[in-house]
Amino acid sequence: MKKTCLTALIILGSYFAQAQKSNIPSSVKNVEAKVDSLLALMTLEEKIGQLVLYNGSWDLTGPASNLDARQKEQNIKNGRVGAMLNVLSVEATTEAQKLVMENSRLKIPMLFGYDVIHGYSTIFPVPLGETASWDLEAIEEAARIAALESVANGVNWTFSPMIDVSRDARWGRIMEGSGEDPFLTSVVGVAKIKGYQGNDLSNPRTIAATAKHFAGYGFAEAGRDYNTVHLGENELHNTILPPFKAAAEAGVATVMNSFNDLDGIPATGHKVLQRDVLKEAWGWEGFVVSDWASITEMIYHGFAKDKTHAAEIAIKAGSDMDMEGGSYEEGLANLVKDGKIDENLLDDSVKRVLRVKFKLGLFEDPYRYANKDLLGQLSVKEHMAVARDIARKSMVLLKNEKNILPLRSTLKNIAVIGPLADDKDTPIGNWRGQGEANSAVSVVEGVKNAVGSGVKVTYAKGTDLGMGERSFLMPLEINKTDRSGFAEAVEVARKAEVVLMVLGEDAFQSGEGRSQVEIGFAGLQQELLEEVYKVNKNIVLVLMNGRPMDISWAAENLPGILVTWQLGSESGNAIADVLFGKYNPSGKLPVSFPRSVGQEPLYYNQKNTGRPSSPEHVTFSGYTDSEKDALFPFGFGLSYTTFEYGEPKISASQMSPGEKLELSFTLRNTGKVKGREVVQLYLRDVIASATRPMKELKDFQLVELAPGESKSIKFIIDDKMLQFYSANRIWESEAGDFELFLGGNSEDLKKVTFSLNK
Ligand code: BGC
Repeated sequence: MKKTCLTALIILGSYFAQAQKSNIPSSVKNVEAKVDSLLALMTLEEKIGQLVLYNGSWDLTGPASNLDARQKEQNIKNGRVGAMLNVLSVEATTEAQKLVMENSRLKIPMLFGYDVIHGYSTIFPVPLGETASWDLEAIEEAARIAALESVANGVNWTFSPMIDVSRDARWGRIMEGSGEDPFLTSVVGVAKIKGYQGNDLSNPRTIAATAKHFAGYGFAEAGRDYNTVHLGENELHNTILPPFKAAAEAGVATVMNSFNDLDGIPATGHKVLQRDVLKEAWGWEGFVVSDWASITEMIYHGFAKDKTHAAEIAIKAGSDMDMEGGSYEEGLANLVKDGKIDENLLDDSVKRVLRVKFKLGLFEDPYRYANKDLLGQLSVKEHMAVARDIARKSMVLLKNEKNILPLRSTLKNIAVIGPLADDKDTPIGNWRGQGEANSAVSVVEGVKNAVGSGVKVTYAKGTDLGMGERSFLMPLEINKTDRSGFAEAVEVARKAEVVLMVLGEDAFQSGEGRSQVEIGFAGLQQELLEEVYKVNKNIVLVLMNGRPMDISWAAENLPGILVTWQLGSESGNAIADVLFGKYNPSGKLPVSFPRSVGQEPLYYNQKNTGRPSSPEHVTFSGYTDSEKDALFPFGFGLSYTTFEYGEPKISASQMSPGEKLELSFTLRNTGKVKGREVVQLYLRDVIASATRPMKELKDFQLVELAPGESKSIKFIIDDKMLQFYSANRIWESEAGDFELFLGGNSEDLKKVTFSLNK
């Protein structure tokens, strides 16, 4: 006991001695001891300050221009602010950090956060697109580069990855995540976290990541952003939480909560989620940041009567930091003084924030993430090469009748038509960081770069998609009347051997707040397509999209469809690589493409229901005016070659506790070119204490094969793979029969069975 007190005194003593220099003594090696010693020095106001996150909405490199900014600056100087967001540039973050380091009593450095979602200045495919690559190494590398470019601008904390499982194409933010499957979302999320954070958070070339939005945000009713979420416990645990558990296990530094109310409780005020599950049951030690003003928004939810009440609910529920809402600033001090909240609760939140700051190495050097030397590293050739590589891996070939693709080298006259064909901005996507407007390589440019001088490439826009100014906050105005470009487009198409129709969505049709009730081609695009089709049927649809779209007419009528999402800086070059066969497409859909919007939310991992099918009459679970399945299912994507799946073999038909089974089969490239296949393994638990999906993705492998080459592929089946959140309200496996499915998409699968004994 005596020894402990003495150590604490030494730590504190030396801390006081060094505090003026802003450094915790290097002799105090252990982060927890450092956190505790610092906490012991803090006043109530200083503690609350660590839980306040300001938007840097004013110019920090000059004198504060207005009263609000001056007040905020003063608060920073007084150590009342723990972090800022949207402060960009080495100069601005340095100036902001100086306000704390040169004026506040304890000199606790601030964090600088930013939405680095798919790149900082080199822009990679939108997250839904990069997930279609199923290439975890490539995804990790893109995140590593995004981190490096962030540090070059003083940013040390990204609000990414978004790991909300999302199954509704109407929801605009579906572009920001990894789609409909919890397993795929988990592994992609972990790859991104590794890319941002590296192995050591204190490395000044890595940044802290944020897993968001905790939880259920992607299940907004009717796909309307911020809307209420109805989620049963079973679905919450089996579908929504697994990616967050994986992120917590991967050591994600922070988690962001969400705007939505979840079965009556706003996620920001959800104690079971944040305290009991995330912090207690999973033992996660980072801090929870609120979403933008989501603490204060509990007033609008009808859950808190004012900011102080909102602060009380949020801190008790485990929300540690208040983003821009002002509730903690306004309410926490009185709540403690009035005895409404225990100061220990506050201490826990503060410790979590300090822990991240220590791990980032900010106490050793508060300016370590403002690295001017890296400025030369923005959008450099090497980063662009990585952007092109992941962009080409992300495209999904949905249709290729009579091998219209790759385009033949004998072609002499190619038409590139459509409002997105020469659009240099849409490929940058929404949530574009500091990606420069109009900086992407357009499809027209990419195609021209790829062909020799003997090939005529003619471009016609045909129609505008959006009109007027485009911005992050305002809705996009769609052109519904101007057909003045139609005639030219039709003429260009008539003379061409092949037409590349570049249609889809503007960058500002998906993203936050951009929910839609229609998911077909907006404006006059469909009309233009059908006019062109009348004169030339040799059309490849080059789709640009941030969500799954209704492309049923195109699927029925056109020979070629290539999904390109919004591919980032190198978009046009990557698209040309695929169109001309320089890269053999290998992407697979991370979301189901519906036959019509009425099927949404649509996803492959559905339950069987008690009325799965009966074609003779209507009393089964389906639609009377449509098929119920997807037009293009999850996991689907063609290649310029073909793959043959051999019969799968399982090492035993019975599995006992602690045992593992091996599933093996031979994959053969039966075509004429080298190709890469995403081999997918799905599982069904046939009878369980709570109903299970008809199939669930459990593992996958990327396999590259030369023409004619075969490879033996193995998957290991272990108990963990069989576990689910059962009727006993725990994760466990249950004895009984299981089905395993192997294949190149979620529908064409080969089956083997086994049973688990217990
Ligand atoms: C979004 C978050 C984002 C935050 C900060 C919110 O509106 O929901 O995902 O990180 O703003 O920009």
